Amino acid sequence: MVESSTEIMVDVNNLNVIFDKNHIIHDVSFKVKKGEIIGLFGISGAGKTTIIRVLTCQIEKKNWSGNVTVTNFSPDKKQNHPLILHNIGYVPQLELLNLYYELSPLANVEVFSSTYGLDTKEAKKIAQELFKILDIPSDTWNKRVKHMSGGEKKRLSMAIGLIHKPSVLFLDEPTTGVDASKRYSILSYLKKLNQKLDTTMFIITHDLEAALICDKTAILREGRMLEFDSPQNLINSLPSNGLVARFEINDLNEAKITRISEFSPVKKVLRVGNEVVEILMESFEENLPKLIQYMIERGVTVNSMSRDSASFRRFFQIRIQEEEEREKLKKNIGEA
Ligand SMILES: Nc1ncnc2c1ncn2[C@@H]1O[C@H](COP(=O)(O)OP(=O)(O)OP(=O)(O)O)[C@@H](O)[C@H]1O
Ligand SMILES: [Mg+2]
Repeated sequence: MVESSTEIMVDVNNLNVIFDKNHIIHDVSFKVKKGEIIGLFGISGAGKTTIIRVLTCQIEKKNWSGNVTVTNFSPDKKQNHPLILHNIGYVPQLELLNLYYELSPLANVEVFSSTYGLDTKEAKKIAQELFKILDIPSDTWNKRVKHMSGGEKKRLSMAIGLIHKPSVLFLDEPTTGVDASKRYSILSYLKKLNQKLDTTMFIITHDLEAALICDKTAILREGRMLEFDSPQNLINSLPSNGLVARFEINDLNEAKITRISEFSPVKKVLRVGNEVVEILMESFEENLPKLIQYMIERGVTVNSMSRDSASFRRFFQIRIQEEEEREKLKKNIGEA
């Protein structure tokens, strides 16, 4: 068996970020190994970009504390910044930020290779290999970027982020603004690059489907990291390893949901459609027939039923909801 690499590429211990008097990031800690893909998830304002800005040397040391290393160098020292920047790549949310639309893809490579002090010939060779991996058609390589399709521009932007062979690549919202059918292809290209080049990747995203390609997912809320683990481990932490019973119920209403929740093995009832609920419970196999019996006895008419495993999307919803309920409870106790 091949041992997976244990080299730590990013190490964050007790990171706190404060702007003026606003405490933005609270005690965030995590480690990332070489070759891992990390997904940073969280609703707007959770602090995803702020964490990445610390890692990419964009926030002054006076605003943050904690022990942080990126490719073994700490961004707390200014003299380390060029070393870190040499080792990392950054693909911004809007590809127009790192592409010159009036130039061709290969002319873009020339500009970026000179910015990084790379040998242009060598950079073009690397770029062409990347273009091939990313299926950027060779007849576009010498034509202006502005004539390329949206998906091609996105892929070109990724290639540009990789021409200096960084060991860690940061991508801010790589699938935002891409239509649903292309989103998956962007994700599979990222996975392909990760496997071919062994590049460690951070993906900031609102797209919960992106968890499919992530080795670890970080869930952030209001500057706190609620979870950092593989999507499967997170799903397995749900009752009965995340097995879900999905029921379509006639005239579904709050009273019926409450009734179902009162069956003691039931841990969570989520309304996922007008007449559809998803139910998580302890000892799923044993309790499923009992739940159905219980529902019949209480006049809850089931039209159809299916069973499934919770998706990462479902885990995320449940986890965020739990946190919101906990907070409400704390507030109520405080007010009482
Ligand atoms: N330089 C700054 N000064 C003051 N507050 C800031 C600064 N930068 C970010 N913040 C605040 O920190 C919080 C987290 O912002 P951040 O951009 O990290 O969130 P995010 O998770 O990336 O959100 P989004 O999904 O909308 O991009 C927000 O409330 C934001 O207003
Ligand atoms: Mg952001």
